[in-house]
Order: sequence, then C-alpha cells, then structure tokens
Amino acid sequence: MFRKSLIAAALVLSSCQSNSQPVPVTTPGEVFANEHLLFDMKDEVSGFPCLVSGTVPGWLSGALLRNGPAKFQVGDKRVEWFDGLAMLHVFEFSSGQVAYSNRFLRSEQYFIMMDEKSLEFSGFAQDPCPKVFKDQISKEVPASMKGIHNADVSIQAYADQMVALTEVPMPVVFDPETLETVGNFQYQDKLVQGQWESAHPQRDPITGETVNYFIRFGRETSYVVWKMENAEAGRSVIAEIPVKRPSYMHSFALTEHYVVLVEFPFVVNPNDLRDKKKPFIFNYQWKPELGTEFLVIERSSGKSFKIKGDPFFAFHHVNAFDKEGKIYIDIITHPNANIMNVVTDQVDDQKSIEESETTRLQRFTIDVAQQGLKSETLFDQTTELPRIPSERVAQEYQYCYAVDMRFPTTMQAKPALYQIDVNAKTAKSWSEEGCFPGEPIFVARPGATKENDGVVLSVVLDFARNSSFLLVIDANGFNEIARAKVPNPIPVGLHGLWDAKK
Ligand SMILES: [Fe+2]
Repeated sequence: MFRKSLIAAALVLSSCQSNSQPVPVTTPGEVFANEHLLFDMKDEVSGFPCLVSGTVPGWLSGALLRNGPAKFQVGDKRVEWFDGLAMLHVFEFSSGQVAYSNRFLRSEQYFIMMDEKSLEFSGFAQDPCPKVFKDQISKEVPASMKGIHNADVSIQAYADQMVALTEVPMPVVFDPETLETVGNFQYQDKLVQGQWESAHPQRDPITGETVNYFIRFGRETSYVVWKMENAEAGRSVIAEIPVKRPSYMHSFALTEHYVVLVEFPFVVNPNDLRDKKKPFIFNYQWKPELGTEFLVIERSSGKSFKIKGDPFFAFHHVNAFDKEGKIYIDIITHPNANIMNVVTDQVDDQKSIEESETTRLQRFTIDVAQQGLKSETLFDQTTELPRIPSERVAQEYQYCYAVDMRFPTTMQAKPALYQIDVNAKTAKSWSEEGCFPGEPIFVARPGATKENDGVVLSVVLDFARNSSFLLVIDANGFNEIARAKVPNPIPVGLHGLWDAKK
C-alpha cells in the first residue's frame, strides 16, 4: 500500500506536491512513486462548477461528503498516510450539475503543520514523545481550536450534526455546506470517555440508533459498547467488558440483535501505551497463537459470549445480520497484521507487501445456540473500503461495493472498483488505465425497490494525468454514466457518506 523504498523519491520531489506544480507524469515502464497518490493539497475552493461529461441523473439531489488526509509534508519531513492533515470535500448535486468545495479541518495539528511548520504532534504512527493519555497544546493554536483532533478518517451524521472522526473519541463538528470547523461534538451524557474509539460508528436504519465502541485504558481496561438513540438522550452503555490485552479493531459488526467485536490477535499491553516511548500503533503486537475471538454481545441485555476462530486481521467489516439463530458477519480479511507495518512505512520487502495487501471477502457464521463458527469466502479478489447501501446496514443484503486498494506500481495500472453480489458470489467491475477509484458510495434512487436501483459515486484519482474526477456509475448494470472533473487532483482518500438532506 505504501512503499517505504519510494519515500526517498517522494522527499526529493516534494516541491511537486502542490496544486500549482503538477506532478510530472512518468513514461511507460518508469518506476511509480507514492507522490502520485499521496500528495499535498494547498488550494481550498468553494462551489467550483465541475465540468460534467455524460449525464448525471436529475433525481440525484444531495451531497457526497468525503474525508481523507491531504497534507503530509513539512519541509523535508513527512508523516505517514494516516497522520496526514484532514481535508473535507463536498460534491453537491442539483439538476444534473455538480459543484465541488474543499477545506482543511481546523485542528490543532492543522495549525502546527501550517503555521509552525512542524510535525511535533502525536498521532497514529506519529509521536515524537508519547502523548496518548493527554492532549498536546501548542502555543500557536487558536484558543477556539485547542483540543480539536485531526479527524481525517470518516464522516458520520450524529443526531442533526455532521462530524468528522478519527480514532480519538472526540468527533469534530463541521458545517456540511461551508465545511467550516465548528468544534468538538458535545455528548448529552455523563459517560466516562475512553482514549480510543472506532471511527466507524454504525447507524441502525430500522431503529435509528447509532452504535459504537471505545476502549477505556487504565488499571482495568475495558471495551465500552454504547448506543445513542438521539442527541437529546445522549449515549447509554450496552455493555462494558473488561479486557487484558485489547485488540486493534478498526470496525465492528452490528446486527438486529447483536454487536460483535471481532478480536484479531493484534493486541496491546495497556501498560506499554503508558510506559514505552512509541507511537500508538507500534505498541500493538501480532500474536497468532491467540487466534481470533468473536465477542458476541446481545444488544438488549448486554450479555456476551466468545467464540474462537483462526487468526486473521482486518480493517473493515462489510455488513452483518442475524437470522434464525445464526449471526452472519462479512469481513474483508488480511492474512495477518503486517498490513499495518506496510501502511505505516515499516516494510520495504515487496513480497511481504504483496502478501499483506492480499485480502478476501469472508463470511463468518456463528450458530448462537451451538456456539459454533464456520467461514466461507464470498469473493477472492483483493478489495478494501467496502460499502453497502446504508438502508441495508445490519440486515440481509446482496450487493457490496469495494475497490482494489493495492497502490499501483506503474502508470498503466488499472485498479478496479467492484460491485460484488455476495449471494451469487459474482462481481462486476469498472476500471480505467492510470485511474485509482476511491471508496464507492451507493445512493438509492427515490422510490427504489431493488437494492441496486441507484448510482455508485467514487472520487477517482487519475494519477496518469494528475487530475481527479467524480465517477457516477449506474448500479443496475454497473456502467459509467457520467464523470465530473474537479479543479485539483485529490490524493487517495478514506471514507465519506451521502447526505441526502441538502
Ligand atoms: Fe476505515
């Protein structure tokens, strides 16, 4: 995903990492470098009218909101992918037209990197001195922005507010129209907060509840699974479960009746976070002998049990549902946690990188009464950033959308965007030479009755031509129907959502 051997080239060519000085295009066969994919953005634009080719459906009215790191470099120093500065993007759709705006999240890290021209802040893999248990306050950060973290991972609607999230349990409220940073989200409850939280809360479309979990590190560390029915009610605890060696679980499974924390054997001794002078994620260790434990928690009672399976690792759950006493959990699985070393620049062995990047879409089936576990492969091609229609979360579903996230190594690469039929175990795909599609977001046509009646939206980085466009695919047939060109290339991003309220 992120090749350390190419970092030196990225540093030398850092002057190319701006919107005003386009990245030079390599000739066929020339070695590919990461600065074509993870580069600094500078310009912030508002309401730019995109040049549309093809036909954007007239019914598509709303906004695609995106999040992802978009500044990595200060002087001759560079942060790894996940510690880049959060950039928010919005694509507004109206009457077949598309308008684009973007704006950096105004976090403490933003002012440190932009104003102080420093990388002296703590992060996922960026931590010059351990600050996991306390906030860092810079003298140059405006008072109104102190305590705001670099929430560069995802976006979620919390009650009637839009928030940006990272793995610090302090969501950052922003204005979805202007993209201006408002401040930290204020929970209306007295829940004692943890130090780490998943950036993938899930909203149950049937109950309207938002569910997530955090880890409260301390003398007695625990997973705290919570739900929030509405903003006025605040959060309430579904279950608090002690854990000696918490697992790094980027996301989790939600069904109608259960929450399942899939504890991969990539675990941390909480004391190490306090005692060892290492960046956060480098305290975690791969211990395959532990296996993977499925911690099944009943949503109504908080009662739980565990089932042990084979070791594997994952970032993203696809979806989950329960039916007739069985729980079905679909996950994009990696063979081990070495992928974490790859994305944080710790690996430069190509064979190891390729092994780590290889994924499968697997279904794990738990028989609740028998406490049995079995697994099967639904799709054996490498994918990541899986999404399903938001209306199908925690229910039976048919279609998953995902992309091949292996970073290209040549200008001729054409990583695919997939529509996977998880029932038929077949897939359709879109790809174009020199183009890297981002996380696909499905938007249902108003009044749709079929699960694939709608469009799929993906921000595509055309790395071969140093530009980006928003791709619109008709999900019924999976054919491109339009693309809208944005003013500046956008580096490979992470997550976003469709906001139909606009
Ligand atoms: Fe994620």
